[in-house]
Amino acid sequence: MFTLRTKRLLLRDLVPGDVPRLHPFFSDRRVTRYMDFVRTRKLRQTGAWVKRAIRHNRKWPRFAYSLAVVSKKDRSVVGWIGFGQTDKRKRHLGERDFGFAFRRDCWGKGYGTESLRAITRFIFGTLKGKSFWGEHSLANPASGRVMRKCGFRRMTPPVRGIRVRSAGYLLTRARAAGAGLAATRLAGRRRARASARPRGD
Ligand SMILES: CC(C)(COP(=O)(O)OP(=O)(O)OC[C@H]1O[C@@H](n2cnc3c(N)ncnc32)[C@H](O)[C@@H]1OP(=O)(O)O)[C@@H](O)C(=O)NCCC(=O)NCCS
Repeated sequence: MFTLRTKRLLLRDLVPGDVPRLHPFFSDRRVTRYMDFVRTRKLRQTGAWVKRAIRHNRKWPRFAYSLAVVSKKDRSVVGWIGFGQTDKRKRHLGERDFGFAFRRDCWGKGYGTESLRAITRFIFGTLKGKSFWGEHSLANPASGRVMRKCGFRRMTPPVRGIRVRSAGYLLTRARAAGAGLAATRLAGRRRARASARPRGD
């Protein structure tokens, strides 16, 4: 199972058993107010959503990562984060984009930032990504704050593909490296040279 670990969290592939764990906040209007794509009302709607996400996660070559965010401390699901290849219509904005939502009682604890940093490291480090972008409603500034904390920079409006009352943010490989979330090529080469050196050199 695909898993990323941070100091306090595990980000892992969704499983069918997550339906009752996600439902309380997917059906909470204050959580999904700005995210119609995860908004559900009935448990069976969350069930259908999770089933579809698991199907996308299993496609190969893998283009989507829909993950439960689990607290290492008590193993509870505190949120959801998903990222993947940008839809064709928005590809000009960046290679990959993301969405995230956390249980209301877990807001403001740094989980959003910790999770976004983890997937950013994975995208630029392991997948060798070139660009990563996100979008949020202007009425939802906490989301933009999290992106800025992870090194994202606001795109200059108007941006083709971003709604008028929304803000688009972009993270390039160079900026991710500057934020310590991607190895620079130079550092990579230095490391390769260092590891090629015989011991005692
Ligand atoms: C947006 C969301 C994912 C952030 O997750 P989180 O775990 O609370 O984020 P963090 O604790 O890592 O950081 C939140 C930051 O936003 C800031 N913030 C909170 N409310 C804010 C507001 N109204 N205006 C500006 N900044 C705000 C916090 O102070 C914090 O920044 P700081 O660390 O510099 O103090 C979470 O609030 C959430 O699940 N919201 C509902 C779903 C959603 O809107 N998702 C995004 C759709 S684009």
